[in-house]
Amino acid sequence: MMSAGVTIEKADGILSIRFSRPDKKNAITSAMYLAMAEALLSIDNSVRAVLFSGEGDSFSAGNDLKDFLAAPPLDDTHPTLRFIRALPKVPVPMLAAVQGSAVGIGTTLLLHCDLVIAATNAVFALPFTKLGLVPEAGSSLLLPQLMGYQRAAAMLLLGEPIAAAQAERFGLVTQLVEPDKLEEATKAVLAKLRALPAASLRATKALMKIHVSRTSARIDEELAVFKERLVSPELKEAATAFLEKRAPDFSKFS
Ligand code: COA
Repeated sequence: MMSAGVTIEKADGILSIRFSRPDKKNAITSAMYLAMAEALLSIDNSVRAVLFSGEGDSFSAGNDLKDFLAAPPLDDTHPTLRFIRALPKVPVPMLAAVQGSAVGIGTTLLLHCDLVIAATNAVFALPFTKLGLVPEAGSSLLLPQLMGYQRAAAMLLLGEPIAAAQAERFGLVTQLVEPDKLEEATKAVLAKLRALPAASLRATKALMKIHVSRTSARIDEELAVFKERLVSPELKEAATAFLEKRAPDFSKFS
């Protein structure tokens, strides 16, 4: 299924979700969130694993900033919120193949993936504060847990990007490969997952995620603040500045 910006296919037990908006660095729109949320929520026993990937030179530039201004995800039924809330509930292994930029949700969704293969040109960034926002998708809980508080603080408070090699050292990336080997490495992992007993994979994931309700609770705690920040003048200034290709001016905000 090709739905405005994302290609979703189910074949040989793999649900493949491929960001397909390379001219906009695979920035994610509401229509894309909607299609992805529906796909994740409809996973049944015919699905053994999920693959996230991106077309072109970037994995994903995160939320579409134009969409953020025009239709902020304030309502609980908003596709963005449905997608974010679906992530921790996926019962099968999730794999991501990352090249180039992985910004915002392009990185926070990786915290819900079980395996992350990254090309050596991958760069991960969580510029929430640079946009006047706060972390989402449980990243305020999951990132410090994964890499330690101070490393997470550099990413979440300062919005500092990390390169692929650093991301591997920090535990965000399972396997690092040359960009031209990304597809091959991804296929190899998918073949391994396909060959293993699906019930055992699901049960193993369920055990590793036994405290997942904490993640879901944190997602909601974050969203309460995130929604306030979404209508802030700082976000308006940051998103407008990005789209106008200029630096933001936060000097008038306390
Ligand atoms: N929302 C909307 N449009 C976006 C976008 C986003 N998050 N990210 C990139 N684009 C668009 C650009 O506006 C540009 O569109 P144009 O060709 O019509 O002018 C196009 O994608 C290419 O982006 P550009 O910035 O020229 O590419 P780059 O290679 O120089 O940089 C990024 C790539 C990802 C580093 C940069 O685009 C970026 O920082 N994007 C914003 C990331 C962000 O803040 N996301 C929100 C996180 S919550």
